[in-house]
Amino acid sequence: MCGIVAYYGKQNQVLETLLGGLKRLEYRGYDSSGVAIITKDSAVFSAKEPGKIINLENEIGSKEIPEFANIGLAHTRWATHGIPNKNNAHPHHSFNKKIWVIHNGIIENYKELKEELKEKGLEFYSDTDTEVIPNLIQYFYTDNLKEAVLKALSKVRGAYSLGIFTTDEPDHLIGAKKGSPLVLGVGDGELILASDVSPVISRTRDVIYLEDNEIVDIRGGEYEILSLENSHLDKKIEHIDWDDNAANKEGFEHFLLKEIVEQPRVIQDSIRGRLVFDAADIKFGGLLDVQDRLKTIEKVVIVGIGTSFYAAKLGEMYFESLAGIFAKAEMSPEFRYKDSAIDDKTWVIAISQSGETADTIAAIEEAKRKGALVTGIVNTVGSTISRITDAGVYNHIGPEISVASTKAFTSSSVILLMHAILLGRMKGLGFAEGEKLINSIKGLPQLISEVVKDRESIKQTASKYKDYKNLIYLGRKYNYPVSLEGALKIKEISYIHAEGLSGGELKHGFIALIDENLPTVALATKDSVYEKMYSNLEEIRARSGPILAIATKNDEAIKDIARDIIYVPESDSEETQAILNNISLQLFAYYCSAMKGLDVDKPRNLAKSVTVE
Ligand code: M6R
Repeated sequence: MCGIVAYYGKQNQVLETLLGGLKRLEYRGYDSSGVAIITKDSAVFSAKEPGKIINLENEIGSKEIPEFANIGLAHTRWATHGIPNKNNAHPHHSFNKKIWVIHNGIIENYKELKEELKEKGLEFYSDTDTEVIPNLIQYFYTDNLKEAVLKALSKVRGAYSLGIFTTDEPDHLIGAKKGSPLVLGVGDGELILASDVSPVISRTRDVIYLEDNEIVDIRGGEYEILSLENSHLDKKIEHIDWDDNAANKEGFEHFLLKEIVEQPRVIQDSIRGRLVFDAADIKFGGLLDVQDRLKTIEKVVIVGIGTSFYAAKLGEMYFESLAGIFAKAEMSPEFRYKDSAIDDKTWVIAISQSGETADTIAAIEEAKRKGALVTGIVNTVGSTISRITDAGVYNHIGPEISVASTKAFTSSSVILLMHAILLGRMKGLGFAEGEKLINSIKGLPQLISEVVKDRESIKQTASKYKDYKNLIYLGRKYNYPVSLEGALKIKEISYIHAEGLSGGELKHGFIALIDENLPTVALATKDSVYEKMYSNLEEIRARSGPILAIATKNDEAIKDIARDIIYVPESDSEETQAILNNISLQLFAYYCSAMKGLDVDKPRNLAKSVTVE
C-alpha cells in the first residue's frame, strides 16, 4: 500500500501536481502524508502530517512557501513499520538531510542494514524500514546519484517502488521498482512517477509501466530506463484512454453510493459484446489466444482475497454446476504458501479490482511456476496482474475509488459466470441452458437499476439496524458467498461485527448465540433452496432472533417469519439472482455507515490496494 508521486517539471506546478496526485492516491492509505520539494537555493521544503491529506494541506498553508526548483516527492502512507505519526511519515531523508526518498513496499532486511549503517556512524530518527534507503544511498554516494542508488538497491531485500532526489544534484530524480507498482507519465516538459496512473492523467495520457528491477533516471528533462545492472532498456509508451470524470463523485455524497448506483451502466460495460446470442455462448477477446488450451483443462482454481475471494467462491459454484468441472476458490495469501495440486491442466483465474494485490500477484507467480494456465479478471488497465497473466478479461467498470469494493464484486461475479458458461459450452452445457443464462445476464442491469431506485426504503430499514453491535448474514447455495460478502461490507464500513454463514451451518454451533439482540440478515429469495432456508429461519425465530429477509417481490409467506423485508425483483436464474441480492446488501451497508456519520469512503485502518503481504 502507500501511494507515491514524484514530479519533474515546471516550478510553478510542483506543489499543485504533488498534492493533486496524493488526493488521487489517498485510497492507498491515509495514516499520514508528506511532501519534499527542492527549492531554488537547493534546500528542501518539507511538510508532513499524520492523518488525511487535508491535514497536510492545512500544515502547508500555515508555512511560508519558498521559490521551488523543479523536483518534488510526495507520499501517502499506510503504516507497516512504526505508528502513524509525523516522525514516521514520508518522505524520509538521510542523516545529513541530503538524500530524500518516498517508498511503497517493505524492506525485509532493514534491521540488519540499519545495524550495519549505525556501526558506520549513520544516525536514524524513525521507526520505519524505509529510512535505511536514504542512509544507504548516502553511504554509497560520492558524486553520482544513479551509481549510489544502484549500489544501495543491490543490498536491499524486499519490495519497493521509490522516488529519490539529492540536494547535491538538484536537477536529478530517480525512480525504482521491484514488487510494488510504478508508472512514469511522459508529459510536455514534465515527467511524473506514481503508484498508478490516476495522478498522471490530469497532465498526460502517455505512460510507461515500469517492470520489476528497473529504474528510471531523470535529468535535464530527459529520462532513461535502465536495468539494475545499469543497461539501457527500450520501453514502449502506452496511451491511456481513461475518462478523468469517472473519478469524480458526480453529485453523490460519497463515492461508495455513486459506485453502487452506477452499476446498471457499468455492468452493461462488463458484458457488452461478450454475449453471443445465436450460439448461446460467450466470447472474450482477451481469452481468444488461450481458447485451444481451455479445451484441455481438467480443473479450475480461482484466486483472490477479500471481496475478490467471495466473487471467486461464487465462481467456484458456477464452474462446477455449469461446466461440470472440479473448481476451487482459494484465498491468495494461503494459496501462495501451500502445495496446491495444480499442473498444466489447471486453469487458474486471478480476480483483482486493483490488479496490484501483493498476495494475488504471488499466487499467480506460484501457479505459473507449476505450469498452470493463468488468466485474470482485473479492473485496472495496465496493472501488474493484467500484465503478468497469460491472458485475461477486464471488468471495464471505470475506477473504483471507495475503499470498500462494490461494483467490482458485481462485475467479477458476472464475468465468472460468463467464464463458466464459456467452459460449460465446451464441455456439454446445452444450448437451452446456455441461452437461458445469457438472457438472464442480459437482463441483470435492468434489475439492478430497480434495486438502486428503491434505495430509500433500504435506507429506512438500515436505520433500524445501524446501532446493533452484531449481525448474522445467512445464505445457502449461491447466496452463501453473498452472505460472506454482505458481512464483510458491513464490517468494513459500519464497524458492526458480522458473520457470514451458510444456512445449514447454523445449528452446528452458531445457533447458541441467537437471541433477541442478534438479528439475522437472511438471503431468502425464491430459488432451489428456498424451503431449506425457510426452515433455518424458523429455527432462528423459535429462539427470538429478529430476521431481516432479502426476499423475492410478492413473497407473502416471508412476512410470517421476518420482522423486516427488503424486496428485490426476481431474476431469470438463481445464478444471477444471488448477484442481484448483493446489491441490496451493498445499499444496506452504505446507509448503516452513512447514518452513523462514519467515513464511508475511507474506513479506518484500511487501504484500497494492499500491495504488501
Ligand atoms: O484489488 P483487489 O480486488 O485485489 O483487492 C482485494 C481486497 O483487498 C479487497 O477486495 C478488500 O477486501 C476490500 N476492502 C473489500 O471491500
